[in-house]
Amino acid sequence: MRLINQMKLEFLSITANVAFARVTVAAFASQLDFTLADLEEIKVAVSEAVGNSIIHGYENAPDKFIRIIAALMPEELEIIIEDDGKGIEDLNKALLPAYSTDAERLGLGFVFMKSFMDGFHVESVPGNGTKVSLCKRVGTRLAQVSPEQ
Ligand SMILES: Nc1ncnc2c1ncn2[C@@H]1O[C@H](COP(=O)(O)OP(=O)(O)O)[C@@H](O)[C@H]1O
Ligand SMILES: [Mg+2]
Repeated sequence: MRLINQMKLEFLSITANVAFARVTVAAFASQLDFTLADLEEIKVAVSEAVGNSIIHGYENAPDKFIRIIAALMPEELEIIIEDDGKGIEDLNKALLPAYSTDAERLGLGFVFMKSFMDGFHVESVPGNGTKVSLCKRVGTRLAQVSPEQ
C-alpha cells in the first residue's frame, strides 16, 4: 500500500514518556481521517505497549531506549513499538487475558491492544527484546454501521 508518511521516534524508558509517546502517535495519526474514538483507542494501545517496555522489558531501568515507527497509508496506520529489554519467555501465556508475571497487575494490556486495534502482532526474543506491531484501519467503525459503504 502507498506510504503517505512515516516517522521514527526514540525515547528513554521513563514513565513520563508514556504520555509523550501516546500524544505524539495520536498527532501523527491525525493526518488520516480517524474518528475521535479511533484516536483514543490508538492512544490506549500505544500507552499499554510503551508501559510494558518500561515496566516489563526494562524492569524500570530509566536509561534504556524504546523505539516507535509509525507508517501512514491511505487506509491504515501501522505502529511498531520496540524495546531491547528482557523479552518474553512464554508468549502464548503472556497473550492470555488476565495473565501477568506481576501479581499486582491486571494482565490486560495485550487484550486491550488486540481488541482496540485491527491488527496486532508480537515478536519477542528472550534476552533480546520485544516488538509489538499494531494496525488501525481508517473508518472501520463507520463502515460497519453504514451498509451502503
Ligand atoms: N515489552 C515487554 N517485555 C517483556 N515482557 C513483556 C513485555 N510486554 C509484555 N510482557 C509480558 O507479558 C505479560 C502480559 O502483558 P500485559 O497483557 O500488558 O499485562 P500486564 O502488563 O498487566 O502484566 C506481562 O506480565 C509481561 O510478563
Ligand atoms: Mg501491560
